[in-house]
Amino acid sequence: MSEFPKNTKFTYVKSEPKDDILSCGIPIPYDCDKELPSKKVVIVGAPGAFTPTCTADHVPPYISKAKEFKAKGVDQIIVITANDPFVLSAWSKALKNDSDGFIIFASDGNSEFAKKIGYDLDLTSKGMGVRNARFAMVVDHNKIVTSEKESDTGVSVSSAENILSKL
Ligand code: BEZ
Repeated sequence: MSEFPKNTKFTYVKSEPKDDILSCGIPIPYDCDKELPSKKVVIVGAPGAFTPTCTADHVPPYISKAKEFKAKGVDQIIVITANDPFVLSAWSKALKNDSDGFIIFASDGNSEFAKKIGYDLDLTSKGMGVRNARFAMVVDHNKIVTSEKESDTGVSVSSAENILSKL
């Protein structure tokens, strides 16, 4: 069990699936120093919005199983990638995230958080720069109690099903 890294900030746009996918919204900060000490959250890291595995396999079960996460005491799910918050807002709408703020799609700009915990992924050879690896972690009142990083690009240990089994 380790302390969540201090001074970690994400940015996100509050959006709903019914919003026009072309409406940009205003990015707001998600300050982990302020938010996490009072919450149990699941942070889901992925290499990129709209990429095939993230979009088809990894993230949708977190949306469809939102009620199961809530039933296990989770206050919020935060999906993070290195994309900017406008792209993440469009991805959230495209995935029909109708969780009313329970699941937010937030930008880990420049993969700063992923780098802090050694979960960055170098995709420069694919022209995608440095990204976040695929992972999921449970942070309970600022303590990382579960952390699962994939060893390849597939979805196994970081799946919604596996994380639910650890809660
Ligand atoms: C994916 O399918 O999730 C993916 C594709 C290319 C790069 C990274 C991730």
